[in-house]
Amino acid sequence: MVFTVDYQLVRLNGDVVPRMATPRLVLRPMLESDVERYLSEAPKTGEADVLGGMPDRPAYEELCRHHAGEWRVSGMGYLVVAERASNDAIGHVQLRPIERATGARAAEITYSIDPPHRGRGYSVEAAAAMLLLAFEILGVDPVIAFVPMDNAASFAVALRLGFEKVGENLVHKSMMRRMLMTLARWQASPAASLSRI
Ligand SMILES: CC(C)(COP(=O)(O)OP(=O)(O)OC[C@H]1O[C@@H](n2cnc3c(N)ncnc32)[C@H](O)[C@@H]1OP(=O)(O)O)[C@@H](O)C(=O)NCCC(=O)NCCS
Repeated sequence: MVFTVDYQLVRLNGDVVPRMATPRLVLRPMLESDVERYLSEAPKTGEADVLGGMPDRPAYEELCRHHAGEWRVSGMGYLVVAERASNDAIGHVQLRPIERATGARAAEITYSIDPPHRGRGYSVEAAAAMLLLAFEILGVDPVIAFVPMDNAASFAVALRLGFEKVGENLVHKSMMRRMLMTLARWQASPAASLSRI
């Protein structure tokens, strides 16, 4: 299967943020209207940890502005994953810049899908679109992912995308698998052939 990713840039309160549509999903900026889902689901999915804690409503609104601004500052950032059919937010995918002494543009990717929507290939579809953006538009190389040793689902997603395990690291007191995707590996991966802009 080859699927098309529709790529756009949208203006949000003075910032410009990517928006991508895959066959079943839309990857778009975090909006103030997503607040109810965020307050109820983010603590369960681990997304609150990714975001640095569990904010209240005003803090959530600040977070929306922060995430939109990240794209302007670093050219990378956070996108909500929404179902195209319902337009409901069901997860997230994020690219974070990693400083490299060589000046190369490297990034870490994180992803989550809310429990009722797991097991349908959504995280692979969303992360493949984000990797397409990273490698083909943003010129990032490599992309890494840190996968907790006890997280079989996230490990399976990373392998399905074509990541390779290159080591283990202690991150925030937990042992994590360090997963690597280079541009060459991306171009040869099945996930790359899934997605075309
Ligand atoms: C990890 C997570 C994003 C997976 O989302 P998902 O949409 O259910 O994953 P997919 O449906 O795309 O599944 C992709 C692959 O993983 C496999 N998989 C999914 N859950 C699994 C599990 N619990 N155990 C083993 N394999 C699993 C699927 O079978 C599929 O493999 P296949 O393509 O070979 O059939 C989701 O479980 C989650 O949000 N977890 C909490 C947050 C998290 O851990 N994020 C990762 C941090 S980097």
